[in-house]
Amino acid sequence: MPWSREQLENRRKFLRYLAASPLLASSSLFAGSLRGWMGPSLSAFGIGDTFKPGDLISSPEQALDVMEFEAVARKTLAPAHWGYLATGVDDDATVQANHEGFSKVQIRSRRLVNVEEVDSSVRLFGTIWETPVFLCPVSAMKAFHPEGEAGVARAARAKHHLQILSTAASCSVEEVTAARGGPVWQQLYPTNDWEVGKAIIRRAEAGGAPVLVLTVDLQNNTNRETLFRSRRYDDRECSNCHESGFKGYAARKPMFDGLDVSKVTGLHDAAMNWTFVDRLRDTTKMKLLIKGLVTREDAQLAVQHGADGIIVSNHGGRAEETLRSTIESLPEVVDGVKGKIPVLLDGGVRRGTDIFKALALGATAVGIGRPYAWGLASFGQSGVEAVLSILRRELQLIMREAGTPSIDDITKSFVVTHC
Ligand SMILES: Cc1cc2nc3c(=O)[nH]c(=O)nc-3n(C[C@H](O)[C@H](O)[C@H](O)COP(=O)(O)O)c2cc1C
Repeated sequence: MPWSREQLENRRKFLRYLAASPLLASSSLFAGSLRGWMGPSLSAFGIGDTFKPGDLISSPEQALDVMEFEAVARKTLAPAHWGYLATGVDDDATVQANHEGFSKVQIRSRRLVNVEEVDSSVRLFGTIWETPVFLCPVSAMKAFHPEGEAGVARAARAKHHLQILSTAASCSVEEVTAARGGPVWQQLYPTNDWEVGKAIIRRAEAGGAPVLVLTVDLQNNTNRETLFRSRRYDDRECSNCHESGFKGYAARKPMFDGLDVSKVTGLHDAAMNWTFVDRLRDTTKMKLLIKGLVTREDAQLAVQHGADGIIVSNHGGRAEETLRSTIESLPEVVDGVKGKIPVLLDGGVRRGTDIFKALALGATAVGIGRPYAWGLASFGQSGVEAVLSILRRELQLIMREAGTPSIDDITKSFVVTHC
């Protein structure tokens, strides 16, 4: 049963009271989760308003951290679109664990190191990027802003970032490549029809994508309760996301244009196994990354089956409720690959210090999903640019403070883990 207006108002007052408590304000862990907790259940659904008008930023330049965009996005988006972006699975506890995992890692700063010049650049498959921060594949971005993935690409171009495009994007790889002014990496949901998956690969190749990212952590029909709950508050027609059946779905996803999807039952293939990876390996000359691995065993198998890289990811807590953060999974994956291929990470990254910690524990690059979607939802391209600028500034700040003038200097000795 949805809450009554009076119940919501009482809850809102109670949460404000809690948030104002100096005791809780001093606990960064709880303050963070409370901040996240207050919003979606109230203002996101247009029922209450958690923030006073002055609490929300009105331009990207005002933002002090990336979380400020979450508040604006929550306020801006239609309830079901917000629900789609925010949702995890079950109790959203893995979404929370991803972020909180970083608080179990502490930084050991060194002093008296010359940090006049700080260089945050990294090399990935022969390309040098100014920072290790990449934009994860996030589907259906026109649900967040009319500019969609093309707006993200213009921001990635302006700020010189690597962008990975989702198979389920609302802009085509050609449009996004043009907006990016250069190739993007293509993420692959192969579907259960090999011919459809292969056609998407060929199109990405023709679009110049140098890297294919196979996502392996998601099955169809995940239990996204926050999304389902948000729909109770949003019965508006939205042709962008409410048509049923795969045919209707594919009709709105440009990467399926012109493909025969009559045999497709879903984006994901429950029968996918390592033989599928071998077949994929033999099908394309693009570099092949596997996204969604979290164990040493799978990391070793990925190396054996010819993967060129791994993204440690749990789909931003949207796949299954493991309660295990990606930053806690990273060390065993790094251990599994034994330096043979690069290991990237995403999930819960919200601060430059989070990026620093992931690099220290062996990641070559670090991805963000929701933060740039919040930026896009809030202000379009300029919001994404601001999110990227904030993370770059924060990373360079901690590099200076910790005494690590280059990314190579950020080693395991700069962190203590309490996982
Ligand atoms: C709304 C949304 C849509 C996503 N769509 C995709 C997708 O199409 N393909 C994919 O591999 N991952 C997808 N992801 C997962 C992200 O690539 C990434 O793993 C995750 O968002 C990182 O966690 P973060 O949101 O905490 O930064 C999606 C995530 C969100 C929030």
